[in-house]
Amino acid sequence: MEKIKIIMDVDTGIDDAIAMCLALGNEKIDVLGFTTTFGNRRCEVTTKNTLKILELVGRTDVPVAAGATRPMVKEYNPPEYSIVHGYDGLGDMENPLPEPSITPVDKSAVQFMADTLRASDEPITLVPVGPMTNVASLILAHPELLPKIKEVVLMGGSTMQGNASPVAEANIIQDPEAAYILFRSGVKLRMAGLDATWKGYIGFDELENDFAKQNWLTETIYSMCGIYVEHYRERMKNPGIAMHDSLTLAWLVNPDIVQCRDYYVTVDINGRYTYGMTVTDVNNVLGKKPNASVALDVNRIEFIQMIKDAIANLAANKK
Ligand code: RIB
Ligand code: CA
Repeated sequence: MEKIKIIMDVDTGIDDAIAMCLALGNEKIDVLGFTTTFGNRRCEVTTKNTLKILELVGRTDVPVAAGATRPMVKEYNPPEYSIVHGYDGLGDMENPLPEPSITPVDKSAVQFMADTLRASDEPITLVPVGPMTNVASLILAHPELLPKIKEVVLMGGSTMQGNASPVAEANIIQDPEAAYILFRSGVKLRMAGLDATWKGYIGFDELENDFAKQNWLTETIYSMCGIYVEHYRERMKNPGIAMHDSLTLAWLVNPDIVQCRDYYVTVDINGRYTYGMTVTDVNNVLGKKPNASVALDVNRIEFIQMIKDAIANLAANKK
């Protein structure tokens, strides 16, 4: 069975780490590499976290290329402490994962993506789950490689509500100009936004009494989730912890797991209150051709089972 070749762009934090496990543990996905970006934490931290996760699951064969350290236009001033991902971006565990013994490849994220696309005999899927800076930079720097991008399946945006402003989602608002470039690029887009990812959660009880007890890897991930649980239970009043980034991969592997509609989407890059909003023309008021498939709902049970199965696969096969 032909695997889906992907390059995943991460700002490894908690849900990125879980999504990495889904990508690496699902037999239908072939991860050609991870590129890293600023976002949840500074790029040096998200890069280190990505390397830590690869060592944790025994997949140091997969290359990592470090990327953008700041947005294209706006300033990047991350808080010292993330209320979602902690200081270290992986939940400030009591027994943190060891410092990585592996290092990134000696090329930038954009160079890695360009070289991989160029060398591939078939188009590759890009899966950005942090700010869109690296992907937008690739599109600007290498327009000749657009035909080698099969599609971009991104975690970001929403049709209405935000989590980083009243109307903007975190990945988009971290670099609205980059997202604007991506949405107008003409590349085939699937937007896994908050409409669906907020519904793709692991319930708090489910997390503690089922997920955590599956195997050594789910137990480790559970020990990473303390701050993440507090954020979703106390502040977001969500029924569980949102598996934002993983939804991209689940949608890629099993399109039927997501309910989606095709809409015209653009990104507000100069609104006073709406800067970073993915403006989604749900009622086709503008009469423009849709440029993205937008996820609106997810089969939550199937989705979480897919994550558990992939992690079980990794846990069983770690050498
Ligand atoms: O809004 C959720 C997104 O922001 C996820 O990608 C999460 O990792 C953070 O980057
Ligand atoms: Ca992310």
